[in-house]
Amino acid sequence: MQQNNITIRGEEFKPFLDEKSLSEILTGLAEKINGDYAGKEPVFLIVLNGAFMFAADFLRMIKMPCRVSFIKMASYSGKDTTGKVKELIGINEDLKDQHVIIVEDIVDTGITIEQLLHTVQEKEPASVKICTLFFKPDKFKKDYPIDYVGKSISNEFIIGYGLDLDGYVRNLPIIYQHV
Ligand code: IMP
Ligand code: MG
Repeated sequence: MQQNNITIRGEEFKPFLDEKSLSEILTGLAEKINGDYAGKEPVFLIVLNGAFMFAADFLRMIKMPCRVSFIKMASYSGKDTTGKVKELIGINEDLKDQHVIIVEDIVDTGITIEQLLHTVQEKEPASVKICTLFFKPDKFKKDYPIDYVGKSISNEFIIGYGLDLDGYVRNLPIIYQHV
């Protein structure tokens, strides 16, 4: 584990999860999904931008035939939620009668996922499940299930491995947590 704290845009962050811990989390998620979807051909719907790095590593561990598509939403400004979600790139895949797995970096209040679920359900898929790398249970305000959770975490803001602060630091290879 890299030991040094870092300062990003005036805020201090400490190392939280290194490459090995992330790899173990992804392996666990992939094992579950490979089991649950054996014999099916799911469509993975990657939520940009935050899930890009997680999805790239995670999908390499997926064994069944599948399709991969992308959607881009935005709800955050800085470290606080705006409570509003914008759809910046819509779904152009035919999802009718398909098994859809939404791939998110983090589910926080659940507002983004709720809107996304609504958008996906309009396409009449056979099923929709949510796979998120991180989940903040104490901030979650909704009552639908989050089917696959890599790791449940406390409310502190985290960055790196796709997760940003004002668009920066998505490229950090490990996760840092706000101090
Ligand atoms: P929600 O709509 O409140 O569930 O927020 C979901 C989105 O907010 C995620 O897809 C992230 O883009 C962003 N987000 C929430 N918590 C964090 C965090 O701790 N670090 C970075 N981004 C976050
Ligand atoms: Mg996101």
